[in-house]
Amino acid sequence: MLSGVTERTLILIKPDGVKRRYIGEILGRIERKGLDIVALKLETVTRELAGTHYAEHEGKPFFPDLLEFITSGPVVAAVLEGPRAIAAFRQIAGGTDPVEKAVPGSIRADLALDGGQNLVHGSDSVESADREIALWFPELA
Ligand code: TYD
Ligand code: MG
Repeated sequence: MLSGVTERTLILIKPDGVKRRYIGEILGRIERKGLDIVALKLETVTRELAGTHYAEHEGKPFFPDLLEFITSGPVVAAVLEGPRAIAAFRQIAGGTDPVEKAVPGSIRADLALDGGQNLVHGSDSVESADREIALWFPELA
């Protein structure tokens, strides 16, 4: 199907994005893509929330650094809605490694260098989106 069903996805502008003053730049790209922002907040992540959010990566070598980084300063959390919103946001975010994987024109390729400090998070499936939206915005679930 070329148009797709309406979905919701949970996205984060990570602490590097907030520190580098890219909130407006990244929200602008989301708006220009045509996705609706249906919830939005600035929040400093607790260790507990960070661990639950990234539970799939527990035990991996980069997990401690990932938790340290994501709790290092405020993040912007948002719920986006639109047709194929999950894949659409991951398309404009770019692949995890900003140099080797992200396609030029994407947020990570254009604005980041580091595979860990890569500016944004986006849910990777309907199941992840449901879980992450319930975690970050329980009032929406
Ligand atoms: P992952 O869920 O694989 O990537 P994505 O954010 O594209 O969904 O990993 C979560 C984050 O963990 C990733 O954005 C950056 C960090 N990370 C590393 O620091 N090193 C790694 O080797 C991987 C795979 C991820
Ligand atoms: Mg992921």
